[in-house]
Amino acid sequence: MRWSERQQAMLRQMGLRVWPAALPGAAVAPERTAARAPRPQAGVSANPAPATGTPRAVPPAGMPRLAPTAGTVGTVGTAGEVPTPGARADLAGLDWDALRQAVANCRACGLCASRTQTVFGAGHPQARWMVVGEAPGEAEDRQGEPFVGPAGQLLDRMLAALALTRSSDGAAAPAQRVYIANTLKCRPPRNRNPSAEEMALCEPFLVRQIELLQPRLILAMGRFAVQALLRSDEPVGRLRGRVHRYQGVPLVVTYHPAYLLRNPADKARAWDDLCLAAQVAEDAAVASGPA
Ligand code: URA
Repeated sequence: MRWSERQQAMLRQMGLRVWPAALPGAAVAPERTAARAPRPQAGVSANPAPATGTPRAVPPAGMPRLAPTAGTVGTVGTAGEVPTPGARADLAGLDWDALRQAVANCRACGLCASRTQTVFGAGHPQARWMVVGEAPGEAEDRQGEPFVGPAGQLLDRMLAALALTRSSDGAAAPAQRVYIANTLKCRPPRNRNPSAEEMALCEPFLVRQIELLQPRLILAMGRFAVQALLRSDEPVGRLRGRVHRYQGVPLVVTYHPAYLLRNPADKARAWDDLCLAAQVAEDAAVASGPA
């Protein structure tokens, strides 16, 4: 599969060069192919084989590339452990519709007074990837869907570069489906940071979403997602580049897209994180066999 013009443009926008030597019809330098290429996800376009003439992304000059080995560290819980941290007993049996309704009815914290509506989540209910962000912003509060503002547009382009989609229409293959949720389901006024109390009160909804989805891979974007899922105050920069676990599910940490809009130099690292996540998702798919 070849990257479309749009995907190549997105990689350029993220600060990643599309290696001209690997463009269709061009000769490929073998030693650079082996040393610099991001790890692929089977069937998607992260790093198709050079023989197909597909372009590949390489980090900007001088940008260190992490070894994309999916070592498992930072384990937080294991599959089957009970109770799940942050779970609420009354949500345990809820299906997607009932959970969405419970979120819509929630008045547990003061954010219910200023919200236009709750923002539950978006994506395929059997997605293999789960992306977790922080909280709805103005556009999300208005539309009722996560990541629809400028940060969301960057997120969609990043996902599209790996042939991933939040679409729930069933057209995408299972491995390409993404579900997107936030740690908070309501917008904090003026987009201020979530408080510890708001995070704690809202966490059971995210916990139940993860239980229902049973993702093969969680991508935690930004420090509030990290705090909720890993119970860690470590900076994102110190937690990214390796594989953590949430209740047995592999979890990769990366920068929040809003941060990337303010700090474009870190887009190359975010791309590395996505490639690591793609590799982990592929490994999980191989381990569990055909869905
Ligand atoms: N930032 C987030 O973390 N979530 C959104 O839904 C929008 C912006």
